[in-house]
Amino acid sequence: MPFYHRLGDVPRKRHVQFRENGTLLTEEVMGLEGFSGNESILYHLHSPCRVKELGEFVPIEREEWVPEHHAHRHLDTRGIPQEGDEVTGRRLLMWNNDVEISLCRPAERMDYFFRNGEGDEVIFVHEGSGTLETIFGDLPFKPGDYVVIPRGTTYRFLPDEGVEQRYLVFETPGLIEIPKRYRNQYGQLMEHAPFYHRDLHPPTELKTVRERGDFAVKVRVRGGYQTYVHDFHPFDVVGWDGYLFPWTFSIHDFEPITGRIHMPPPSHQTFAGPNFVICSFCPRKLDFDPLAVPIPYHHSNLQSEEMIYYVDGNFSSRKGIDVGSITLHPSGLPHGPQPGLAEKSLGMTETHELAVMCDTFNPLRLTTFARDLDDGKYQFSWYEEPAQPASPDENPAGVTSHF
Ligand SMILES: [Fe+2]
Repeated sequence: MPFYHRLGDVPRKRHVQFRENGTLLTEEVMGLEGFSGNESILYHLHSPCRVKELGEFVPIEREEWVPEHHAHRHLDTRGIPQEGDEVTGRRLLMWNNDVEISLCRPAERMDYFFRNGEGDEVIFVHEGSGTLETIFGDLPFKPGDYVVIPRGTTYRFLPDEGVEQRYLVFETPGLIEIPKRYRNQYGQLMEHAPFYHRDLHPPTELKTVRERGDFAVKVRVRGGYQTYVHDFHPFDVVGWDGYLFPWTFSIHDFEPITGRIHMPPPSHQTFAGPNFVICSFCPRKLDFDPLAVPIPYHHSNLQSEEMIYYVDGNFSSRKGIDVGSITLHPSGLPHGPQPGLAEKSLGMTETHELAVMCDTFNPLRLTTFARDLDDGKYQFSWYEEPAQPASPDENPAGVTSHF
C-alpha cells in the first residue's frame, strides 16, 4: 500500500521491549523483497511460530481443458452452484504462471483461518457483504469492492447473515500494486490517477483475541494447502504499523477517464500484477467528437489475452451476454464490435455498463469448469450470412463500449 497505517498499540521505537502486564510481546516484521520492500511490524501475545500440531498437506490439482480449437469464448457463470467456503469454494476458470482466476459462491462458513503464503489476492465482490476478519483488524466489504489481500495475511471471511456471496477471485505469485504511473516518487496518488487515497480503505478496527484452544490455520504454500494447529487464537496482535495490510477499493469510486475520441483500455487500469493488469469499466460519458465512433475499433491483442467479467449494466437486455458472463479474447486473434454495432453506437452519449477486465501477457490455460460454462457459439457472433445481414438487435453480443 502506498501509505502508512497503524492500529492498536505499538512501542515508541522499533525493536525495543514492549510488554503487556509484564509479559514481553513478540515482535514480527512481515515484509516483502527481503527487508527492502514494504513491511508491517506486528506485536503478538504469542510467537506466531508456536505450532501445536501439523495437519494435512493437500496439493492443488487443476483439471485442464485443452480445447480442440483456438477461438473466442463466452462463459455463462450466472448459474454456477454454491459450494464450499470462501477458500475451498473457489472454482478455477483459467490460469497461467502469473495469475489464477476463479469464481466463488460460498455455501458454508470457514471454520478455520486462511493465509496465502505464496501470493497476493484480489477478490472482487460482485454480490455479498460482510467483514474480512484479519490479523490486521476487521475489513468491511460490500458489493463492488475489490478486497486486496497481501500474502502473509491471516484471515477469515464473516459474510453478513443471509446475504448470498459471489466473488471473482484473482491470485498471483507476484505483487498486486497500484499502477506506477499513478504514483509520484513518494507514493502519493497523482492528480491524473482515477482514484485517490480517500478511496482506499484499510482495516477499521483491531480486535485482539486472547482465546486459548485449538485453532487451525490453512496456509497456501508450495502448490498446496498445509494446515497448522495453534493453541492460541491467531488474531493475538495488540498493535501493528507499516505499509503492508489488506484494503478495499470500490469499483464505484473509480473515476472514468473519457476523451473526445475513444480512450484505450489502459485508461481503465486499476491494478498491476506481474504480466497482467486488472481494469474497471464503469458508467461514463462516451466520446464527444461529432465524428467519434463511441465503441472500440477492432484490435488484435497480439501479445495478450483479454478476460472480461460483466458485473452490471445495459447489456442485460441483449441476448448472449448478460450479468455474470465472461468473454475471453485470446491472443493471436482480432476482435471488435459485432456487425452493425459500430453504426448503431453513433450518437450514443453514455454507457451504464460495469465490468472487470483482466489482461494477461501470457496465454491463459482453461479448466474443465470453464469448458462446462462455454456456450460454444460466441466465436461465430461476428459471422453473418451475406444475403441476410443480421439486425443489430439480434446480435448475441449486444452493444458494449469497451472491448
Ligand atoms: Fe479488446
